Amino acid sequence: MKKDFFTYQAQTTPHPLALEISHAEGSYIYTTDDKSYLDFIAGVSACSLGHRHPKVIDAIKEQLDRYLHVMVYGEFIQETPVQLAKLLAANLPYPLEKTYLTNSGTEAIEGALKLAKRVTGRSELIAAKNAYHGNTMGSMSVMGFEERKQAFRPLLPDVSSISFNNYDDINRITERTAGVILETIQGGAGFIVPHHEYLKKVKQRCEAVGALLILDEIQPGFGRTGKLFGFEHYGIIPDILVMGKGMGGGLPIGAFTASNEHMSTLQDRPKLGHITTFGGNPVIAAAALATLKEITESDLMSATLEKEKLFRSLLKHPLIKEIRGIGLMLAILTPTAEIANQVILKCKDEGLLLFWLLFKPAAIRVTPPLTISNEEIEIGCKQILRVMDLIYSETESL
Ligand SMILES: Cc1ncc(COP(=O)(O)O)c(C=O)c1O
Repeated sequence: MKKDFFTYQAQTTPHPLALEISHAEGSYIYTTDDKSYLDFIAGVSACSLGHRHPKVIDAIKEQLDRYLHVMVYGEFIQETPVQLAKLLAANLPYPLEKTYLTNSGTEAIEGALKLAKRVTGRSELIAAKNAYHGNTMGSMSVMGFEERKQAFRPLLPDVSSISFNNYDDINRITERTAGVILETIQGGAGFIVPHHEYLKKVKQRCEAVGALLILDEIQPGFGRTGKLFGFEHYGIIPDILVMGKGMGGGLPIGAFTASNEHMSTLQDRPKLGHITTFGGNPVIAAAALATLKEITESDLMSATLEKEKLFRSLLKHPLIKEIRGIGLMLAILTPTAEIANQVILKCKDEGLLLFWLLFKPAAIRVTPPLTISNEEIEIGCKQILRVMDLIYSETESL
């Protein structure tokens, strides 16, 4: 299959990890050559309940036996997307009550940007340096990493950037601004957590000038930081909340949520203000509903913070400069990109999956399923330390 993979499936890097997957269960992925891998990536924060969580599988099967796609988004009343949107509203603070379901995170970002423009009648979008919001044209326009977007210009006009956590830059949000889009915790940049008052100040400034605050929770959302959404740590409510990844329990989904009043602008002048064929797909909504129920009804979220403590207590090594992030969204900062690279590749050879962060090459992503056990955390951390010992002794002897 490897040859066909490289021949027929379009690649985005010259060196994909290229594990040939046989099956996956819980915190483990198994390959066709009979190896098992402890998964500290979770499909890049997507498999929040691990692989093939029984409640997710049951919900999918139940929906498969009823109907698959029957109509484009929002025309027919279908039980699972309605229940999903309703349960989200029940778990979100007012006025975040109306949800638009999409096929992916980046598509939800597109919808959120359009909504901010539509509600305010303005065009300027403000985004953060080193931000990542997805790879379609609108999302890429608000990406804060020129090297990755230069080749695709011209992108959206009227986009300006501010530095995340910089209080002076907040004044650049003005009466011209339609929306300010921020990741609650910057992912690709290296899991940068907002200073305690930062998001509050941004929100206050947005309110003062009539701009909307869009928070991208595609990565921290769905329990990964110990709260259902990361913004709950910071005492603010965004105008538009964007989610995805871990929402789907392993199936592709995204969504943006706003007030009833704001969301209603997509119905009128012009009507069909944002449309999609497959958004709100009933099978995927069934998986997302089961995932949301499991996260909110179990002790997974509080356990996430205990698991973070365990990671932090175990991961001590001269090659670890810092551990950034919250909950199970952790980044190990090593001295160099080369060391991070070696740790990731050597751990893979030893049966532990780690991954890179988009714009921070010296960092190692640790985003296991929320369902990971303490024992699995201990096994994985021991592996990381063993590999680091080896690299450390090699670099010492140079
Ligand atoms: C913070 C953030 N925003 C948006 C996206 C884009 O989501 P998707 O890949 O589902 O389009 C991602 C994906 O990595 C992300 O981490």
